[in-house]
Amino acid sequence: MALVEIVWVVFSFVRPRKQAVKTGDFGARMTCGPVEGFKKTSVTAFARGHFYLCRLADGGFLALSRQCTHLGCTVPWDDEKKKFICPCHASAFDITGNVLSAPATRALDLFAVDIENNVVRVDTGHRIKRGGFRLEQVVYPSTDSKKDV
Ligand code: FES
Repeated sequence: MALVEIVWVVFSFVRPRKQAVKTGDFGARMTCGPVEGFKKTSVTAFARGHFYLCRLADGGFLALSRQCTHLGCTVPWDDEKKKFICPCHASAFDITGNVLSAPATRALDLFAVDIENNVVRVDTGHRIKRGGFRLEQVVYPSTDSKKDV
């Protein structure tokens, strides 16, 4: 019995432990800020969350993964050209994450957005894969209406 206890104690010390996800880190629900802090037709990078918060022309929000759907490079936003351009093989994506040019064939992944008390939050714990952009993916503040994207 003592041997079992010793083995258990040793095992408890050497086994890998799951790291708790801290608020503000990738994998957690992140608070981005108040709705009016994001201009329409803007892209804001959240490096620790590994996503871009995109506010579309109609006021709706999308949280796009910064990881290219071709081979996983980090895709920067080019504010002059108004598109994401991958530095690895030149795939390009529009502000909704849709593919503009290959080799990527799939839109940038999404993270769930919610807006409560006028504060935008993103859940980075679950990546949402999709074929392309659909209007129902956009999250709107309660005062904005759906218009052209
Ligand atoms: S990894 Fe982005 S185009 Fe290849």
